[in-house]
Amino acid sequence: MGLDRSYLETSVWKPDLFKGKVVFTTGGAGTICRAQTEALILLGADAAIVGRNKANTDKAAAEMAQLRPGAKVISCAETDVRQVQSLVKAVEKTVRELGKIDFVIAGAAGNFLCDFNHLSTNAFATVVGIDLLGSYNTVKACFDQLRKNKGQILFVSATLHYYGIPFQAHVGAAKAGVDALSNALAVELGPLGIRVNCVSPGPIAETEGFKRLVREEKGYDKTIPIQRYGSVRDIADATVYLFSPAADYVTGTVQVVDGGSWHMGSRGSHHLYPHEVARLNAEQLSKL
Ligand code: HXC
Repeated sequence: MGLDRSYLETSVWKPDLFKGKVVFTTGGAGTICRAQTEALILLGADAAIVGRNKANTDKAAAEMAQLRPGAKVISCAETDVRQVQSLVKAVEKTVRELGKIDFVIAGAAGNFLCDFNHLSTNAFATVVGIDLLGSYNTVKACFDQLRKNKGQILFVSATLHYYGIPFQAHVGAAKAGVDALSNALAVELGPLGIRVNCVSPGPIAETEGFKRLVREEKGYDKTIPIQRYGSVRDIADATVYLFSPAADYVTGTVQVVDGGSWHMGSRGSHHLYPHEVARLNAEQLSKL
């Protein structure tokens, strides 16, 4: 599922591309952000894995440290991106143990399918709090390091706000905000030598998002222009490109990695549309 040392033999990247660099990844124990970070580790970087759950985050960091002899990978567990002070502590630990931060991946995210009528104010605020406020807080906490090291930021966004997708109002609103935040920061922080971009995954097989959002129908993969689901490696490769010197003049962009999927319209929740929307709306109206 994740990456292993065979990545070095089969990728186009130079093995020591990120030697001496340190990456700070929120959501780093999750499927996509873990693979992004694994690629950087395999290519020479050290890493801080930031997550809420202690057992998962500690385990992921310990496993990722085995990817490359000499790799330093630390766990910043029990960090909630909704609390900036929690992130400040994680940054302090990273600088104490790994010396600095060069790259930030703001990837912590939450999602579930829910129609507007059943989505509580707290549910909406929770997703916006993790995805959007959490992304902002991550940059805020890392800013001194980014300025000192002329670092880079990569937000993990999505494509589901490019048009209306049922049951995704909360995430669409949050990710639209992430894109806007990224654009503004690219412009403001560019003069400091800080590059800021987004990577927006499409249907990536065997991920938490895929399990939560996509009901796999026979032939669904063939509706994707590239004719297959994505892999976490596809996102890892885009990440390597954006952090590499090959992208030195690339900032303020959204790199969509979805096999062309969004051009076809998202089908993730379409099996529920429109009959399920009608049923849920009617259920809610009957309570008024
Ligand atoms: C409706 C729900 C719900 C659901 C939670 N809530 N799950 N409402 N349907 N399935 C509501 C709760 O009832 C509560 O509102 C509010 O949301 C907060 O829930 P908590 O469980 O207290 O929050 P918390 O423990 O902080 O958990 C956050 C979470 C959870 C987002 C709800 O699912 C989570 O931790 N997710 C992290 C992992 C994850 O989602 N990974 C997938 C990322 S994929 P009330 O009103 O009852 O208090 C992804 C891809 C995006 O982001 C794009 C892909 C293309």
